[in-house]
Amino acid sequence: MKKSILVLTGSPRVGGNSDLLADAFKKGATEAGHEVIQCEVGKKNIMGCKACDTCYSKGKPCSFDDDFNSIAPLLEKTDMVVFVTPLYWFTFPAQLKAAIDKMYSFIIGGKKLKIKESMLLVCGEDEESVFDGIINTYKRMVCYQKWTDRGHLIVPGVLNKGDVLSTEYLVLAEKMGRNI
Ligand SMILES: Cc1cc2nc3c(=O)[nH]c(=O)nc-3n(C[C@H](O)[C@H](O)[C@H](O)COP(=O)(O)O)c2cc1C
Repeated sequence: MKKSILVLTGSPRVGGNSDLLADAFKKGATEAGHEVIQCEVGKKNIMGCKACDTCYSKGKPCSFDDDFNSIAPLLEKTDMVVFVTPLYWFTFPAQLKAAIDKMYSFIIGGKKLKIKESMLLVCGEDEESVFDGIINTYKRMVCYQKWTDRGHLIVPGVLNKGDVLSTEYLVLAEKMGRNI
């Protein structure tokens, strides 16, 4: 069945390792017949949630105008969300975390999303064990949101732009897209 998939990328670095992973994932998912949209969250301006609890009461998801208000409509209409991100300080980069925090607005605004499934692709410099924080956060989020976890891919040992090109992980990311 054809699905709409929203890929949320977390890196501010243009053409970096996670952007390449996202491209590979999108290629697989598109060739499998799905509709794939990418939103480059890491390159956007999103403030932290201020917990004002006025979400959606002023005709927009967040009462404070920032780029989250252009991401929210994409989240409202997608079947699946895929996070593709670098590891920053053992967790999500601030811009992507701010967007995740602002998904709180769907709860306060009483918006029922149709997201059913999710996936995480994450890369970083160090060894696999340092990814435990982001994996745990992701799993807690999936459980809380009652999404079905379609799996995660940890890409260790990539630091500089393009490091991922000499690994097998782009093939794995494409396969994850193709198997959706
Ligand atoms: C602010 C910052 C924090 C980082 N924190 C970590 C970290 O905690 N663990 C790690 O293994 N790599 C860390 N890294 C390295 C990146 O995860 C790594 O360079 C990654 O390949 C960048 O992905 P990108 O090319 O898509 O931007 C950090 C990099 C930056 C800029």
